[in-house]
Amino acid sequence: MAEHNLVEPQTVVSYPNSDWRGSSAAASAAVNELEQGKVLFFPHLAFSLTPDQQKLLDPALVDPKRKNISYDAGSHQIKGVASADKEPEIRKLLEDFYQSSLGLIETVLPEYQAVLRKPVNSLRLHPVSEWTNSSSWRKDDTRLHVDAFPSRPNYGERILRIFTNINPNGEDRVWRIGEPFPQLAARYLPQLDGFSPFKSWLQHKLHITKTPRSHYDHLMLQMHDKMKSDADYQKNGQQITQRFPPGSTWICFSDQTPHAAMGGQFMLEQTFLLSVKDMHNPEAAPLSTLQRLTSKQLV
Ligand code: SIN
Ligand code: FE
Repeated sequence: MAEHNLVEPQTVVSYPNSDWRGSSAAASAAVNELEQGKVLFFPHLAFSLTPDQQKLLDPALVDPKRKNISYDAGSHQIKGVASADKEPEIRKLLEDFYQSSLGLIETVLPEYQAVLRKPVNSLRLHPVSEWTNSSSWRKDDTRLHVDAFPSRPNYGERILRIFTNINPNGEDRVWRIGEPFPQLAARYLPQLDGFSPFKSWLQHKLHITKTPRSHYDHLMLQMHDKMKSDADYQKNGQQITQRFPPGSTWICFSDQTPHAAMGGQFMLEQTFLLSVKDMHNPEAAPLSTLQRLTSKQLV
């Protein structure tokens, strides 16, 4: 694939860590790199499964109505398991991964330790190659996008995600990663529809959204959709291809870093939310970038 002028060190930064907990000399660099929209890549950080947990790597365990199995560490609730008898074992795996993720935050992003909110994680068992057949272009995560959730407005809160490839057959997770957010936003903003507070109120009344969409949520969702539906951007937009082998882990702000999953199977993903005010440099948030570019208060 063409690399379109985006050099890897600008986008992906590698870290040598091989333990989920332990000292890290580079913690202050990590938070800055992450907040600039870079992907922190840990090529030697494996999440090991026991032989019994290896048996859980089976797409048949996912409820056919759902894309993934998900676990809320706050309430211990698990969703998307096809048969109830497997729930305790999968809950244990997802709880273990949550605890490991906390260890990694403590090690690499200690400033965030006390301020991350709403931990939810997922076990992704389906091959990426089988996504496209079943979903609409809007839900197609093989297209470059920044994350924005249609039914869950987040008022500028950051979406921090930790991913680890647990494929037992040597298969890489393959991503495309796009340009820095300020550049992306400056190009798309002129194409986005205006915000209607009435429409936002109505969508909430009709239960399309859980809370009313803010101007920020409107812009992020529009940008998500415009990026995915723009064939020229998908093909010719600045991007690199990055392979994440089994036994590797990576972290990014998925609301900021354009990403697309191109291949692979079997992955764990941990999400945390973070308030803009709790960032090391709040000016780097998509909310701040969009407010600067529009000269408007967006939440
Ligand atoms: C996404 O977050 O868009 C998909 C990432 C993946 O499943 O590799
Ligand atoms: Fe995404």
